[in-house]
Amino acid sequence: MKKLIKNNVSWVGKVDWELETFHGHELTTHHGSTYNSYLIQEEKTVLIDTVWKPFANEFVDNLAQEGVLDKIDFIVANHGEIDHSGALPELLRRIPGTPIYCTANAVKSLKGMYHQDWNFNVVKTGDKLDIGNGKQLVFVEMPMLHWPDSMATYLSVDDILFSNDAFGQHYATELLYNDLVDQCSLFQEAMKYYANILAPFSAVLKRKLQEISALGLPIDIIATSHGVIWRDNPLQIVEKYTQWADNYQENQITIVYDTMWNGTRVLAENIAQGIHIADPDVTVKLFNLPKSDVNDVIMEVFKSKMVVVGSPTINNGILHSVAGFINLMKEMKFKNKKAAAFGCYGWSGESVKLLNEFLQGAGFEVLNEGIRVQWNPDQDKQQEAVEFGKELAMAQ
Ligand code: FEO
Repeated sequence: MKKLIKNNVSWVGKVDWELETFHGHELTTHHGSTYNSYLIQEEKTVLIDTVWKPFANEFVDNLAQEGVLDKIDFIVANHGEIDHSGALPELLRRIPGTPIYCTANAVKSLKGMYHQDWNFNVVKTGDKLDIGNGKQLVFVEMPMLHWPDSMATYLSVDDILFSNDAFGQHYATELLYNDLVDQCSLFQEAMKYYANILAPFSAVLKRKLQEISALGLPIDIIATSHGVIWRDNPLQIVEKYTQWADNYQENQITIVYDTMWNGTRVLAENIAQGIHIADPDVTVKLFNLPKSDVNDVIMEVFKSKMVVVGSPTINNGILHSVAGFINLMKEMKFKNKKAAAFGCYGWSGESVKLLNEFLQGAGFEVLNEGIRVQWNPDQDKQQEAVEFGKELAMAQ
């Protein structure tokens, strides 16, 4: 289980091949995940982060079998969330009193979750801890990346940044390093992770990236807490984050909808056709929300300059799949994206008006009143939807 990364630094984490969802059932993880923990063995032995609670015993037993459990002098808890702190109770049952280095907020989250008065040592940005052989750990607070309690830890001389959630991916692999895995899958998972977890904190992230860059620390390896370790051109993921944090968008329009009797689906397809006619260069993607993975669709919206949202009217409202998805988009705090609405109705027909309100409330620039069609769209109404699509394509 212990895999040497560089000099006296090893990976001692857990690859979770079976993970299907994360944060309960909020986020799909098509490629599983990893909980990366690291062991530094200098004059002092340091454990950086642990693993998710279901793997706590296995994790601590492995450390014991490697003969390192009783040698741990310090524990660094970069973040209190349970996927990284879950083995702390078992660990500290076996090695009680071991000092834990973490932020003031992490004391709150760890005490809040485990109700233990462990030997906490609060650190702030710039604080250093000597670990012998001329090496130091330098702590950098990373509030909101991913929680207010988050921090990164930098190991001098070896130039390794233990970044915790930042730069991670839910991507199970035994290959450990970024240069050994399929690049398309890796960046797909890295973007999905960013779009669904870190996007709300883009403004904070942008400032933090500048702050880290200003510290002028040489970085040879970025050792994240999920997925691969960035050893080959590690700054490539920092560059990606710099782009993603800056109101990222591609030349894409995403159409999302739900439909009861196919009328709203027909509108969606005609709108897509109109967009394509008016602007053949733009990528248009359609998703029937209940038939799609919403987290994958969130990533598509993250990439888009515009989202077009459709729902028929039901009970004077909109379908709950669409309402839930708009709520998810709102949570992601997407910026600088345009939106429009469409939908069929039989009687009262409130859906498009409501969609416009919800989209505005979610931070989108709503381009027009949208298009609503009573009953099933006939040829004329389908042509109107095509024209509506053309209008959207030109409204950029
Ligand atoms: Fe991977 Fe915010 O925990």
